Amino acid sequence: MADSNKTAILSFDDKELRLPMYSPTVGPDVIDIRKLYAQGGVFTYDPGFTSTASCDSTITYIDGDKGELLHRGYPIDQLAEKSHYLEVCYLLLYGELPSGAELEDFESRVTNHTMIHEQMHMFFRGFRRDAHPMATMVGVVGAMSAFYHDSTDISDPWQREVASIRLIAKMPTIAAMAYKYSIGQPFVYPRNDLDYASNFLRMCFSVPAEDYEVNPILSRAMDRIFTLHADHEQNASTSTVRLASSSGANPFACIAAGIACLWGPAHGGANQACLEMLREIGTVDRIPEYIARAKDKDDPFRLMGFGHRVYKNFDPRAKVMKQSADEVLDLLGIENNPTLQVAKQLEKIALEDPYFIEKKLYPNVDFYSGIILDAMGFPTAMFTPIFALARTVGWISQWKEMIVDPQLKIGRPRQLYMGETYRDYVNVEDR
Ligand code: SDX
Repeated sequence: MADSNKTAILSFDDKELRLPMYSPTVGPDVIDIRKLYAQGGVFTYDPGFTSTASCDSTITYIDGDKGELLHRGYPIDQLAEKSHYLEVCYLLLYGELPSGAELEDFESRVTNHTMIHEQMHMFFRGFRRDAHPMATMVGVVGAMSAFYHDSTDISDPWQREVASIRLIAKMPTIAAMAYKYSIGQPFVYPRNDLDYASNFLRMCFSVPAEDYEVNPILSRAMDRIFTLHADHEQNASTSTVRLASSSGANPFACIAAGIACLWGPAHGGANQACLEMLREIGTVDRIPEYIARAKDKDDPFRLMGFGHRVYKNFDPRAKVMKQSADEVLDLLGIENNPTLQVAKQLEKIALEDPYFIEKKLYPNVDFYSGIILDAMGFPTAMFTPIFALARTVGWISQWKEMIVDPQLKIGRPRQLYMGETYRDYVNVEDR
């Protein structure tokens, strides 16, 4: 825990409270309000947690004003260019970039856990074919606690390690199976001679009737998309995983809770909603109509893929994703992709519009990702499952950090109660 080098003085009514403050290695100071209710008899009030630090962490740092994202201190643009997803997984899990031998061992451990229990195949068959793959993933990942019961003893460091590897290794298999099931094709087993991203692409797109060669352009782009989604501080789904874990629930149940939260269109579901919005706009000449709707207070429409709770500058992931979209579509020979043209023009117009400038609304990670995934052949319903697949290492890293935190307590916020005060029951005949 950071040392208290300052004190905040809070005075109200006839009270004056002295609250310790802590300084981070980088970022805003915090005021420790844990004794506020005991000493002052009041709660803080922060719906949506816009000004609340829920924990201390050493994993990811975001500077929203600079548009900076660091994983264990390394900037995301350097990791996206020079590293690869499983190396980033190691960095997030263990805090340092691995040596060659450490990386080889880690990749081998992940590779050898990619298959799921054969009995789980039956579990998929209980879903309708048209079930959204996110619904399937929530169900199947939650059910892992029924199949891998040995990994549910969270007090055992070794079992925590096994559960972490199992989840990172099996998420691509589960996501690919959810996709295959939704299109009525047979499940494809993982292969140990393929890298993580190539394995996922093959499990999604190969069919027994013919050989399948992974396109190296696509596997590199897939791996980069995984890296760009790996972790992102205390976002809604990570906070969900932390809150679920604070009760001592098993890691599979907690990750299933994170998947459920990520599904929302304000969060990870925005990548699907964004591509559907770009398709609905259709042509550049219809952009002004949608910009007007986004600005209209009486219209619930929001520009999907735009805005962020933390970034008040470009989301650095969006910059890398935009560059990757250009590269992938060019390499695939997809000239003048209309959706990409609409996205680029929409970004240009929005960033010149006073409304977006004043509210500091920029493209976020979800704005360009769908264009690449669409070009790779994924249906929009698979966009958020891919986000969930990639974010699993972030959820797990934050979970492991929290479990060993000596300050770990069950998360239990309070409220500003605005309901009825005490009143006696009235019998129905007297109402
Ligand atoms: C992710 O937290 C994370 O780190 C998330 C994430 C991660 O990696 O985990 O980065 C992934 O979830 C990215 C965000 C994906 N969501 C979308 O693209 C959906 C569209 N964006 C918005 O719904 C919104 O911007 C949020 C939810 C992302 C952020 O909402 P906030 O921080 O609660 O901001 P707000 O709703 O209070 O908006 C502030 C103002 C409002 O106007 P006023 O009420 O002040 O007049 O900006 C407006 C909003 O109406 N606004 C938008 C807008 N986003 C905000 N107006 C039009 N279009 C938008 N997209």
